[in-house]
Amino acid sequence: MTQAAFRPPAPPPRVLPPNARPSPGAYMRYFKIMARNPLEIWTEGHFNKLTHLDSIFGRDYAIIHDPKAIRHFLVTNEKNYRLTNIRRAVFEPVTGQGIFVAEGENWKRTRRALTPVFTPRHVQGFGRAMINKSVEAVDAISSRLDEVVNISDQMTQLTLNILLACLFSGDQKLDAKRFANDLERLFEKAGMPHPFDLMEAPRWMPRVGRGGALRIVADLRRQVASIALARKRLVATGGEAPEDFLTLLLRAGQDTGEPLSEDEVIDNLLTFLAAGHETTARSLAWTFYLLANSPDNLRRAETEIDAATLNINEPAKWGDELLFLTAVIKESMRLYPAAPILSRTAIGKDKLGDLSIDAGTEVVVSTWVLHRHRKLWRDPDNFDPTRFLGDEGKAIDRFAYLPFGAGPRVCIGASFAMQEMVIAMATLLKELRFLPALGEEPQPVMRITLQPSTPIKLRVEAR
Ligand code: HEM
Repeated sequence: MTQAAFRPPAPPPRVLPPNARPSPGAYMRYFKIMARNPLEIWTEGHFNKLTHLDSIFGRDYAIIHDPKAIRHFLVTNEKNYRLTNIRRAVFEPVTGQGIFVAEGENWKRTRRALTPVFTPRHVQGFGRAMINKSVEAVDAISSRLDEVVNISDQMTQLTLNILLACLFSGDQKLDAKRFANDLERLFEKAGMPHPFDLMEAPRWMPRVGRGGALRIVADLRRQVASIALARKRLVATGGEAPEDFLTLLLRAGQDTGEPLSEDEVIDNLLTFLAAGHETTARSLAWTFYLLANSPDNLRRAETEIDAATLNINEPAKWGDELLFLTAVIKESMRLYPAAPILSRTAIGKDKLGDLSIDAGTEVVVSTWVLHRHRKLWRDPDNFDPTRFLGDEGKAIDRFAYLPFGAGPRVCIGASFAMQEMVIAMATLLKELRFLPALGEEPQPVMRITLQPSTPIKLRVEAR
């Protein structure tokens, strides 16, 4: 007998009264919702229609969930769109001029220089660190059997351990505790875009609370700079350097005569931390939560893991052996996409689906809405990993499912993140069983990433 499908928590779409018009009261409600949880802003109409044109305070917003229009927006005519001011306002203080905020020739040169870091050979090379750190997580959690464990915290720690091992190979100069503490405080402070940023106020306007965040960033930069300098000296004196991100970045672009400057190396190391740490941690925590609440799917994942070889010398092959687990992770990122918005500002006129776009229009793809759109998915709100398998999986439109974005600015770390999540899930689920715990149900809330309203806590048993 199969169990009833699990429908995980989500705010219901808003129902707007017919002929709702902009008014001071409507704007007040809008800002209240945006401050509380921007996921609640989406209406029944957004989940049922593929394109919308909205105007907020005189600024035009084109909301597009039509896969053909999205392809045109992110691929065919992507040159017509620049990054939004809010992206730069939120990320520049942390990542400087790193690739996430770079544009034009500068972006092209940086992307060319960084792409070799993520070749299949290098990503496979990072597999050993992913396995070792996941085994350490199993050991840590195993000391808490039959207890309720904060999985959000565990995954934040695990993904940070993995990323630091891949960035700096656990460099002796790195004070990992201080680094982790700085990062945690930074995400707390920077996790919510400042209301002035949402309103696109000029950058010189003081943002209350930003001072603390900037001091933390300065400390992180100092730590990364000192590690980078020591590594540079090591390489210059002919010392043997590990094949980690740092060495690869110091080497990047040398063959094309366009090496990265010292500041660019630091900016991009911090970019990888900002773009790759919290996203992966959140996705993993949601995946454990979904499986814990769906016993049939949990059993199927466990059976598959038990039957697999999982050769530690070939970590890149784990995904080929674990097709169901991979489908579980994909389904988790469909329901809870860590990056819930892809947006750009139009430079010139364009046509997106049935919408005419003027210069200055903000174009928004909400992956939250796209992945649950009534016209694109069957049972859109249910957790059902099998939709990613077989012919049904093959039939999914490339532009209806965008957890890592698409086009030239697609996530550069996507294959790294997928390999990391498969390895972490398989290593933990082989030894441990995660089950629901009594307590408050986590609701998805949009900050910079999609977060649970309360940490995800699960009961852990030995298998
Ligand atoms: C589950 C984990 C992850 C998710 C869901 C995710 C999602 C995304 C998305 C949606 C974008 C495109 C944004 C846009 O077009 O506006 C992006 C870009 C990016 N991601 Fe990821 N990411 C993840 C993990 C990582 C990791 C592990 C790294 C690095 C180690 C990374 C580094 C980057 C960088 C550098 C960019 C900017 C690329 C560019 O602009 O050329 N991400 N990511």
